[in-house]
Amino acid sequence: MVEDKIIDKAPVTLKEQKVNDVKIKNSLNSESDKATQPPESAAETVLDPSCDEKNPRIISFQDVCQAAFMIKGGIDFTPCRRSHLSEQSGIEIFLKKEFQQYTGSFKERGARNFLLHLTPEQKKNGVVSASLGNHALGLSYHGMKLKIPVTVVMPKEAPIMKVQKCRSFGAHVLIQGEDMAAAKKIAMEISRDKKTPYVNGYDHPLIISGQGTIGLEIVEQCEGADAIVVPVGGGGLIAGIATAIKTLSPQTKIIGVESNKCPSFSKALQHGGPVYTPNLATLADGLAVPKVGCNAYATVKPLLDRMIVVKEEWIALAILRLVEMEKCVVEGAGAAGLAAILAGQLDEFKGKKVVLLVCGGNIDTTTFGRCLERGLAAEGRLMKFNVTVSDRPGGITELCRLISSIGVTIKDIMHERAWLKDIYCVEVKCVVETADFDHSQQLKKKLMENYKNVFFNEPSFAIHKSAAF
Ligand SMILES: Cc1ncc(COP(=O)(O)O)c(C=O)c1O
Repeated sequence: MVEDKIIDKAPVTLKEQKVNDVKIKNSLNSESDKATQPPESAAETVLDPSCDEKNPRIISFQDVCQAAFMIKGGIDFTPCRRSHLSEQSGIEIFLKKEFQQYTGSFKERGARNFLLHLTPEQKKNGVVSASLGNHALGLSYHGMKLKIPVTVVMPKEAPIMKVQKCRSFGAHVLIQGEDMAAAKKIAMEISRDKKTPYVNGYDHPLIISGQGTIGLEIVEQCEGADAIVVPVGGGGLIAGIATAIKTLSPQTKIIGVESNKCPSFSKALQHGGPVYTPNLATLADGLAVPKVGCNAYATVKPLLDRMIVVKEEWIALAILRLVEMEKCVVEGAGAAGLAAILAGQLDEFKGKKVVLLVCGGNIDTTTFGRCLERGLAAEGRLMKFNVTVSDRPGGITELCRLISSIGVTIKDIMHERAWLKDIYCVEVKCVVETADFDHSQQLKKKLMENYKNVFFNEPSFAIHKSAAF
C-alpha cells in the first residue's frame, strides 16, 4: 500500500547519497551511452525520495482502489464509447475520453489523489512540481479547489495555452528550463529550499495509483477488451492502468505508444531501465519526458505486452480523423493510439476490441490548424501545383474550368509572367481542395493530359489510400 508518509520525506542532495556504484559510473562513461546522459543544465542535483532508482516502488491493485475511493466526487467518470472509426479500420475501437476532464486531461486523477494525502501542515504550505502542461493544469485546478497553494515550473517548450490556464487557476507559474529534465531540476531545488513536497507528475506512487483509476472504469465500461493502447511519457499513466487491468482482466493486452521524437520508454526497455533520452520537438508534447520514472518502469515492465513507436505524421493525421469522425479536439499525445492504428501497427487486432486512451485535448489552436492542413495535404485532399498556361485571353479561365469540371475547389490561386521565357505563357500557382486521394489522382491525370508543364508539390509525408482509412 502507498503510505501517506512518503510525502513527508524532504529531498536530499546528491552528494549525501553514495553514488560510487562502479557499475553505474562505468556505464554512464561508456561511448555508447553518451546520448543517455542529460545535459549539465538538467543533471539532477537533488534526489526525489519517492522516486529512488535503486529502490523503485511497485504500486498495487489495492493502491489503485484506494485512490478511486479518495478521488471519487472530484473527478469526472468519462465516457468510453465505440468509435465511428471501427468500420473503416476493421477493429472494434472504443475511445476512453479522458480529454473531457475539466482541465482537458487524465492528469487530474493523480494530482487530486496526491493533494488529498497531504498532512494539514503540508496543505497549508503547498506543493511544487514541474510539468509540460497537463499535470500542471490538473494540479493547479485541484489545488485551487482544495485551497492548497501550487507552484509549477514549466519548461520553455510548454504550450502557451497551458501556461495561461494554470495561472488562471491561481498557481504560481515559473517558465524555466529548456526541457522537462531542466524544469524538474529547478522545481526540486525549490522543494528542497522551501521544504514543500515535490509532486512528480508521472512517477510518485500516489500519482500512478490515481491514473490507475482509469483502468477500473475501462473494465466496467468495456468488458472483455482485447487490448488497451496507452500513450506513454514518463510512464505513470500506463503503469497505473496496467496494474488495474492485469488484476481484473489479465487476458487484456497492455500496449504502450510513444512518438518517434521522444521514445524514452523504448530506450528504457533497450537499456534495461530508465535512461536519459534526448527528445525532439513533437506534436505529442505531453509525451516529451526525457527519462521514464523508475517506479512507473518497475511497475509496468512485467505487465507490458508491447511498446509501439509511431511516426509524428500519423499523429497529425489521427488528430484530423478524430475531429472529422468523432468531433473530438485532441492533442498529439491523445491521438497517439489512433495514429498507431492508422499506421497499420495494430493490424493483428482486426476483428477485436481495442480501447484507445484519448487522454488529452489541450492543443494550441495554431498547432491544431497546422495538423489539420498537414493531414489534408498528406492525404491529397489539399494539393499544390504550378502549371504553365497560355497567356492569351481565356487561358486561365480554361484552367479554372478544367479544375471545376471534376468538382475540385480552388483555395488559392496566383499567377506570374515576369520570370517566364515564353512571353505568351503565364505560370499559375494553385492550392486546391479535393474529396479524397482518388479525386486528387483524377485531377493530376487531367492536368497532365492538358498541359505540358505541370509541377506538383508533394508533401514530405504522402499517404496513399491503401495505407490508411
Ligand atoms: C495527454 C497526455 N497523455 C499521456 C501522457 C503520458 O502520461 P505519463 O507521463 O504518465 O506516461 C501525458 C503526460 O503528461 C499527457 O499529458
